[in-house]
Amino acid sequence: MNISFENKVALVTGAGSGLGLAAARAFAQSGAAVVLADWDEASVLSAADQLAKEGHSALGIRCDVSDEAAVKEMVERTVERFGRLDAAYNNAGVQNVLAETADATREDFDRVMSINLRGVWNCMKFELQQMRKQGSGSIVNCSSLGGLVGGAERGTYHAAKHGVLGLTKSAALEYAARGIRINAICPGLIWTPMADQMVASGQADALNALLNAVPMGRYGRPEEIADMVLFLCSEASSYVSGQSISVDGGFIMR
Ligand SMILES: NC(=O)c1ccc[n+]([C@@H]2O[C@H](COP(=O)([O-])OP(=O)(O)OC[C@H]3O[C@@H](n4cnc5c(N)ncnc54)[C@H](O)[C@@H]3O)[C@@H](O)[C@H]2O)c1
Repeated sequence: MNISFENKVALVTGAGSGLGLAAARAFAQSGAAVVLADWDEASVLSAADQLAKEGHSALGIRCDVSDEAAVKEMVERTVERFGRLDAAYNNAGVQNVLAETADATREDFDRVMSINLRGVWNCMKFELQQMRKQGSGSIVNCSSLGGLVGGAERGTYHAAKHGVLGLTKSAALEYAARGIRINAICPGLIWTPMADQMVASGQADALNALLNAVPMGRYGRPEEIADMVLFLCSEASSYVSGQSISVDGGFIMR
């Protein structure tokens, strides 16, 4: 099984924190030149600096994935710096403000959709323009267990994450015969700063209820998501495309 990324270039969005940071680190440790993008400039530049100090090739870029022009520039800078794009993990995402459907606001709907769904579409669009020229590449989009089931007061988040699966399957069909694979990952309950924010905003009970429904009885680690992202971007998964893979301690079995 070959999961080396020597001489490969990987791009990760939302790489300043949590799952994105763990995936960027894993790509770098597997030999890739890695581009870390995030709208939080300080965190992404410091993460890229840290990887560079450890001897890896890393570039930090400030990018808001909901901004089409910024995403175009992010891919252009990647190719200018490293010459190509082999792997992309479209990971940046946010939670919705908890509200039942009758009370949710249009502003929050638009915010969540613009990042979690249009952000993924923006990224795929410009990544695929480059990969199409190369005739090769692999993309992993970050959905969620929320892309597979409903969630009370989380309709917008779940709708966006369901949408990511539709974008993934459609693009996978378009490029399957052209050397480009596109898959999605559906993380379950993973302990990251996003989970910290949920606790801080009074959702500790909801998190505990979810944890009780995890057959493995524990939170996942960001590195366990990174392992699947690297597998899906590597030659080890060369016959896998258009799939959504759950990494959730068995949650979705119920
Ligand atoms: N942690 C979990 O349990 C879990 C479960 C399922 C899915 N996910 C998904 O995994 C992804 C990463 O989540 P996380 O837990 O690491 O969260 P996190 O909050 O730790 O990290 C998200 C990162 O995305 C960045 N970001 C947010 N909006 C952005 C934008 N518009 N442009 C660029 N960067 C932006 C943030 O600055 C942050 O660095 C998200 O898409 C999330 O929905 C997480």
